[in-house]
Amino acid sequence: MKVHIRKILVWLSLCCLCSAALAEPFVQGGPIGSQTEGGFDALGPVVEQPIEFPHKTHAGTEPGQMGINCMYCHTYARRSNVSGIPRLDKCMGCHKMIESVKDKPRIKKLFEYWEKKEPIPWKKVHDLPDFVRFNHERHIQRFYFSEHRPVREVCGYCHGDVGSMTTARRVKALSMGWCVSCHQKDHLENANTTKTSNGPNDCWQCHK
Ligand code: HEC
Ligand code: HEC
Ligand code: HEC
Ligand code: HEC
Ligand code: HEC
Repeated sequence: MKVHIRKILVWLSLCCLCSAALAEPFVQGGPIGSQTEGGFDALGPVVEQPIEFPHKTHAGTEPGQMGINCMYCHTYARRSNVSGIPRLDKCMGCHKMIESVKDKPRIKKLFEYWEKKEPIPWKKVHDLPDFVRFNHERHIQRFYFSEHRPVREVCGYCHGDVGSMTTARRVKALSMGWCVSCHQKDHLENANTTKTSNGPNDCWQCHK
């Protein structure tokens, strides 16, 4: 019996050693979107939207672009599973007053939806299978609120640099290997510590 327990202990410590040797620190900063495994970069198809919405114009930070915070429009990211797409009233809050683009075809279309009181039927760009459980809140709480990384970088871990895109496009594989490869890395617990922990790797955490 004693031998048996020893064997288990040895086996356990070996496992710890292995995982410690495998775990690499998660890299922050650098070009947005480059922080997760390059092997899982996978450009998705161009999705045709009812109105071609220019992220670049609204969220870009080049001169002449507005640099609006991603979470001003995707308000639920910090507190729910989904990030959500903004309602038409959020667009109209600005566009009712912006004369410079009122006569542009895309803005005319925007007003048509508004006058018909119809929501814009945006199409999905990212879509995990139903058997996968994903939660924005936990990732945003960790990377943005605890580690204090810039919001555009944080969204960029999984979405690439949407703020420089004309229309949103998938750039990561969203495969199981991709999620797991990031969970296995050593992530700082918050901005003021060198203490790290991993994301969960138990099947049930990601599968219902
Ligand atoms: C002015 C509002 C606004 C801002 C600011 C904004 N977005 Fe969006 N976002 C939208 C709209 C509208 C859509 C739907 C159209 C589309 O998918 O192209 C969208 C779509 C997306 C999608 C694709 C959703 C899907 O269907 O999978 C992602 C990812 C995204 N935004 C990320 C970001 C990031 C990251 C930022 C900050 C750099 C940002 N957005 C800033 C309005 C906004
Ligand atoms: C904070 C204010 C603000 C919000 C919110 C906003 N926009 Fe804009 N949008 C602008 C401004 C300002 C421009 C014009 C930039 C320029 O002069 O090129 C613009 C430009 C655009 C254009 C390009 C027009 C063209 O053809 O040149 C589209 C399309 C557009 N917005 C759609 C939307 C949609 C859809 C939403 C809601 C999801 C939205 N906007 C929310 C301020 C806003
Ligand atoms: C850890 C990876 C990760 C991070 C970080 C992340 N997302 Fe996502 N996002 C995803 C995945 C995966 C999906 C697809 C979810 C699904 O299909 O159930 C998604 C979907 C979306 C969608 C489509 C609508 C929805 O909520 O399902 C939007 C919009 C979006 N993300 C915006 C953002 C914004 C804005 C940020 C930063 C504030 C962000 N995401 C940060 C992985 C991430
Ligand atoms: C950029 C790195 C990164 C990527 C990519 C990533 N995650 Fe995570 N994930 C984390 C970290 C770090 C945590 C731990 C957050 C915490 O609890 O503080 C986490 C936590 C989670 C949790 C636990 C949430 C909870 O409610 O306890 C689930 C579930 C999860 N991730 C699923 C996924 C799935 C599914 C994908 C791929 C579609 C994914 N993650 C991609 C870093 C990542
Ligand atoms: C960090 C999140 C995460 C963890 C942990 C995880 N999975 Fe997955 N799994 C995913 C995602 C995301 C997909 C969807 C992949 C796709 O659509 O390509 C998936 C797909 C699958 C599939 C469907 C077949 C396939 O390859 O598409 C099976 C079966 C599966 N996972 C089993 C498991 C088992 C068993 C475990 C535990 C050893 C596990 N998963 C742990 C995220 C996870």
